[in-house]
Amino acid sequence: MQLRVPGPTPIPDEVLQAMSRQMVNHRGPEFVELIRSVTASLKEMFQTKEDVLILTASGTGGMEAAIVNTLSPGDKALSVSIGVFGDRFADIAEQYGAEVIRLNFEWGFPADPQAVRQALSQNPEVKAVLVTHNETSTGVTNDLASISAVVREFDKLLLVDAISSLGSIDLPTDAWGCDVVVTGSQKGWMVPPGLAMVSVSEKAWKANAEAKMPRFYWDFAKAKRFLDERGQTPWTPAVSLFYAFRVALDRFQREGLPNIVARHMRVGNKARAEVKSMGLSLFPEDSCASNTVTAVRAPEGLDVRGLLKILREEHDVVLAGGQQRLDGKIFRIGHLGYVSEEDIEAVSQALRAALPRAGYAKVG
Ligand SMILES: Cc1ncc(COP(=O)(O)O)c(C=O)c1O
Repeated sequence: MQLRVPGPTPIPDEVLQAMSRQMVNHRGPEFVELIRSVTASLKEMFQTKEDVLILTASGTGGMEAAIVNTLSPGDKALSVSIGVFGDRFADIAEQYGAEVIRLNFEWGFPADPQAVRQALSQNPEVKAVLVTHNETSTGVTNDLASISAVVREFDKLLLVDAISSLGSIDLPTDAWGCDVVVTGSQKGWMVPPGLAMVSVSEKAWKANAEAKMPRFYWDFAKAKRFLDERGQTPWTPAVSLFYAFRVALDRFQREGLPNIVARHMRVGNKARAEVKSMGLSLFPEDSCASNTVTAVRAPEGLDVRGLLKILREEHDVVLAGGQQRLDGKIFRIGHLGYVSEEDIEAVSQALRAALPRAGYAKVG
């Protein structure tokens, strides 16, 4: 099967097999060694010397943790949103009592760093900026290098949702001054859903010491204490996913981060070229199109649901539709993690066969 949704992503056999191992005591020496080595390898992938914590949660749990560990009710946060997941970040902050200033951009476009600069100039009391590195709902990668430079100019906290980018698209956490970066195991990491990984900078720890939002399960300070002092997590971790992670990270280290980033670039280019060769157009412009997910505009007459059904039932290819207001308007090809150009070729062949039957006759 070609599972080409933007997460969960396919898992290599050796990673799957690692998960069939018997349990170990999560308060015993085997787990100490495991969490220490997984955390050390993750730090390399985050390109950070700061702390990385592993939470048993989906990505949204990591986003919630980022908010409640750095902010207090009444704090001002600037939300830079370009789609569904940017809006979610803002919603979480609002739910916990932050005063959220929403800087929303048209879906399909990246955030304009100049507009971020203007919003920060107009709102000097903003404490944190929330931004999505790669907006999975629209297939757009933000120019995080430029946005982070602006946030640094104003010396604000920068909380980054890198759930569908980290480990696939370059994100030098420390070099760009990102204070909390969140990612999720089911995306580029070749691990099943269930773990959220977060980096926490020194500046974020200072904010953490003063942050008053309620937290218990998500408490970063407790997680750090358990990790540093005992090599444990405060709560029972998803042990099998740690087994998986060790093997997946070995693969990461064998391939090397620059090569992984380059492979995602090649795969992204291939996906975009194939789609265009069918006469279809991308939802975003090429210049900001993501290397982990390709969003394709549904042309007049195309029944997106019908297309996804034919692909799934007759070609064993699983793609994603559009979310919220993009439902029926786009479809998305996920290409992150365990993916090669050959996989995209297979998706492309299936699409060429299925598109005319779903109402689009002009396949090139
Ligand atoms: C950019 C982005 N943010 C947040 C999420 C939410 O993560 P999860 O579904 O793991 O809670 C996703 C997952 O689709 C995502 O792609």
